[in-house]
Amino acid sequence: MPDLFPEPYRIKMVEPIRITDRQYRCKAIAEAGFNTFLLRSEDVYIDFLTDSGTNAMSDSQWAGMMRGDEAYAGSVNFEHLVAAVQDVYGYRFVVPTHQGRAAEHIMSQLLVKPGDLVPGNMYFTTTKLHQEKAGGRFRDVIIDEAHDPQSSHEFKGNICLDKLQAAIDEVGAERIPYISLEGCVNMAGGQPFSMANLESLRRLCDQHGIPIMLDATRVCENAMFIKLREPGFADRSIKAIVNMIGSLTEGCTMSAKKDHLVNIGGFLAMNDQEFHTRAMAMVVEYEGLHTYGGMAGRDMEAVARGIYEAVQENHLRHRLDQTRYLGEKLRAAGVPIVEPIGSHAVFLDARRFLPHIPQSQFPAQALAAALYVESGVRAMERGIVSAGRNPRTGEHNKPKLELVRLTIPRRVYTQTHLDVVAEAVEKLFVRRHDIKGLEMIYEPRHLRFFQARFKPLQ
Ligand SMILES: Cc1ncc(COP(=O)(O)O)c(C=O)c1O
Repeated sequence: MPDLFPEPYRIKMVEPIRITDRQYRCKAIAEAGFNTFLLRSEDVYIDFLTDSGTNAMSDSQWAGMMRGDEAYAGSVNFEHLVAAVQDVYGYRFVVPTHQGRAAEHIMSQLLVKPGDLVPGNMYFTTTKLHQEKAGGRFRDVIIDEAHDPQSSHEFKGNICLDKLQAAIDEVGAERIPYISLEGCVNMAGGQPFSMANLESLRRLCDQHGIPIMLDATRVCENAMFIKLREPGFADRSIKAIVNMIGSLTEGCTMSAKKDHLVNIGGFLAMNDQEFHTRAMAMVVEYEGLHTYGGMAGRDMEAVARGIYEAVQENHLRHRLDQTRYLGEKLRAAGVPIVEPIGSHAVFLDARRFLPHIPQSQFPAQALAAALYVESGVRAMERGIVSAGRNPRTGEHNKPKLELVRLTIPRRVYTQTHLDVVAEAVEKLFVRRHDIKGLEMIYEPRHLRFFQARFKPLQ
């Protein structure tokens, strides 16, 4: 494989993983209701379920854990966290939370009013749920190419300004509390937005007085794509690019469990003082005091150090190359994947992988379950199950993208592990016609993909 950026780290501690046989895995997936979220981690060989909280921390982060100031109030680690966010992102205020969705909850409750519309560059499950729980409606204003897995557009995370303008004309700017802008859009396949798009979005929002709130979960990976692909950014540091994104937005929610290279943590950041005061009042009700949110002092220290490691260019070059390596192997074998290869995961296109299974029989869910049985590799559905139901009609939302996400944890797996995953998918692709659809037999009300249960159709 040409031009692969090697691991910019060496391994100092290892965790054994277990290889099981097919018979064992058939039983395990049946017990898990054909939902990979319900498998026991011990029954998984290579865990590509998610990149969330599954990162390997550095020696510096572990050393920082020993410097945890566990005082109830005024922890020095909180000061480090605030200083790191101010330095790298440029936001003035930080409210710590235990993970991203807690920040989304606080932001949605404080900014979204019943009847409001929140336009965004494709939905994310928890983000949309909190907007809806606050009485708002989500409107997808991402460019059309994002819904086409075969489009090779380099910035499929871009917002379509015409769609946004139409939404403003329809409901009025006063009914739009903010634009929700996600970096490396997860549900689109880890696709970045461009700086040019963000600058145009900023201009449009300024005309209408609408704030932009960033979902910064994977914004460092987004910044690396900007550096690699967008004219004028090749010589800028990742930190400078992230800082520029921060300067063009009013604040962010952050799941530090991804780009910030920790196992738990998050925050809400903003420039507006009144918003900050209200968020501090709310965080004490749901998370903890405003100087720790839902985190221990040691967790905040790990996040503070992770913020700086996340903007190291060598780390990001290797990270994107790992994903590209896996994607290019699969593409070369003729396996249908989402193009271009994104940041944190390779997404299998289940519609083309399993054309004989209609969307009503949950093809991506069936494919993720079959991959586990084939190989012990755990992946995740990102299709009709994840999309849930329309809260007003109760109908299934039917996304165009019906995907299985092979998500690569940061600094955890080697190139040989990637080879094993690629070979498993390739083998499954050869005998794809044997895979059958599923019927859903249990469905929780919200975020059903986590706990829904299925049985195979005959
Ligand atoms: C884009 C995006 N936003 C928000 C979240 C929610 O963060 P958390 O899982 O930390 O609650 C996630 C988590 O997967 C995510 O990928």
